[in-house]
Amino acid sequence: MQSNTDGVNVKRILVLNGPNLNLLGTREPEIYGRTTLNDINEILRQRAKDSEVDTIDFLQSNFEGELVEAIQKARGRYDFILLNAGAFTHYSIALRDAISAVPVPVIEIHLSNIHRREEFRRTSVIAPVVMGQICGFGVDSYIAALDIAIRKIQKDTK
Ligand code: DQA
Repeated sequence: MQSNTDGVNVKRILVLNGPNLNLLGTREPEIYGRTTLNDINEILRQRAKDSEVDTIDFLQSNFEGELVEAIQKARGRYDFILLNAGAFTHYSIALRDAISAVPVPVIEIHLSNIHRREEFRRTSVIAPVVMGQICGFGVDSYIAALDIAIRKIQKDTK
């Protein structure tokens, strides 16, 4: 955790989205809503600005390896990762291992409530290695995750 000259913690947050989340807005809107990923990112960017977050970066990838690399590179650069791993949530041991390997806390996000959908979605292989999971609140899942990350970073100053 870094502090600025006023002794206030520098807040650096990485928002990662996995496969098919680039299609938000048109993808199964009855499940995922009509808000696009760009809209979500803009909402988060504005909220981060209002909360004096120093850095908020965004990456969406349909490729597992790219997400693994982003998590690896987050070491020392970010204080929190907000991650919607999409379908990788349910089977990517590589993502899970990357999260375990890097000392940056991760909040797992899902728009839908994965526990009340198909059986295969009820298992998250990353859940045991993240700080916590927020699911089922649509865009608010992202907003809640951002607010929690900000609060946690602030608390660490004291
Ligand atoms: C999702 C849920 C996953 O099961 C699914 O594969 C997604 C989106 C969600 O945000 O609800 O791609 O992570």
